[in-house]
Amino acid sequence: MSHTKPTILFASTTFSEAPWIARIKSCAPERVVVTKPDPSVEYALMWKHEHGSLKNLNQLKVIFSLGAGVDHILDDPDLPNVTIVRAVSPDLTARMSEYVVWQVLDHHRKGRHFRALQQASDWQNSDYQPAASAIKVGVLGLGELGQDSAFKLNALGFDVSGWSRSPKQIPSIDCHHGKDGLDTFLSQVDILVCLLPHTEETTGILNQVLFSKLKTSGPLGAPILINAGRGALQVETDILTALDQNVLGAASLDVFEQEPLAAHSPLWAHPKVTVTPHVAADSDPDALIGKIIEQMIAFENGEQLQNLIDLNLGY
Ligand code: NAP
Ligand code: GLV
Repeated sequence: MSHTKPTILFASTTFSEAPWIARIKSCAPERVVVTKPDPSVEYALMWKHEHGSLKNLNQLKVIFSLGAGVDHILDDPDLPNVTIVRAVSPDLTARMSEYVVWQVLDHHRKGRHFRALQQASDWQNSDYQPAASAIKVGVLGLGELGQDSAFKLNALGFDVSGWSRSPKQIPSIDCHHGKDGLDTFLSQVDILVCLLPHTEETTGILNQVLFSKLKTSGPLGAPILINAGRGALQVETDILTALDQNVLGAASLDVFEQEPLAAHSPLWAHPKVTVTPHVAADSDPDALIGKIIEQMIAFENGEQLQNLIDLNLGY
């Protein structure tokens, strides 16, 4: 009887291979790891793989996304019909909450305004600073990332609400759900944080119609948008129009319709926009690989995989 362990494929067009391969080898020294599709591959660890490259992998059993989102996998028209597991890790979650808290606080405490005053050596301290409790932060998406961000914002004193597909009851968070619950949710929000996955239903959800439903009477003057979900959720021309018409007061964007963001995009230099290059929550091999190998071992022992994707829902 052969004791050869299943071959693992590492496939990414954007992650640097070396730290991932090193981590796989240190967690599972007995396993063969390849970086090019090979007929013996049974597991694929992927982040933005080359579309079509999995087509002839007849032994492939499980795809592990190296990120929380799986749109980069489901977009492949030649994707084999196999189980997909996504990354869920306290490290990834903590990184996203850091980003969200950073951006919410920057808008709440008028970071752009004070940086501009400093540039002009201008001492002005008569501006009213609202308390965190006077600001309603609404989180679109109450999954792994959205819930942790919501809790941490709530712990800082913000009044936090959230919106999800299915109904939820979460202590201290005002929960709304479904298409019917969206308008009421939006009408109360001063700072909108988007942590939705990209699916057929969420594509383009951050548009002019949605922005026009946000609360206009809040202490920040105009509602703020923070999107770290996916670029395909946002209509960038609508964001620019909304900013120029003061329908939105400012935006922090970590994700974009096209990545990298084109050098000519007006978002780069817009005075009301904070751009970060899809770094809100980086995937760290040291944090993710151990759990993936544990899942492989559990799977080989006939146990249930965790963090499975529902292909009908697309997340
Ligand atoms: P998750 O646990 O699957 O949570 C997704 C949330 O979105 C759930 O609450 C879900 O509702 C809700 N949702 C999905 N479709 C919806 C719809 N049509 N209407 C209303 N709510 C809907 O995902 P996660 O781990 O929190 O990650 C969320 C996303 O963050 C990822 O998919 C990825 O795109 C993004 N992300 C970005 C970065 C970055 O660096 N910028 C890093 C990591 C992740 P239910 O609870 O009812 O299912
Ligand atoms: C990053 O964008 C992720 O989906 O983890």
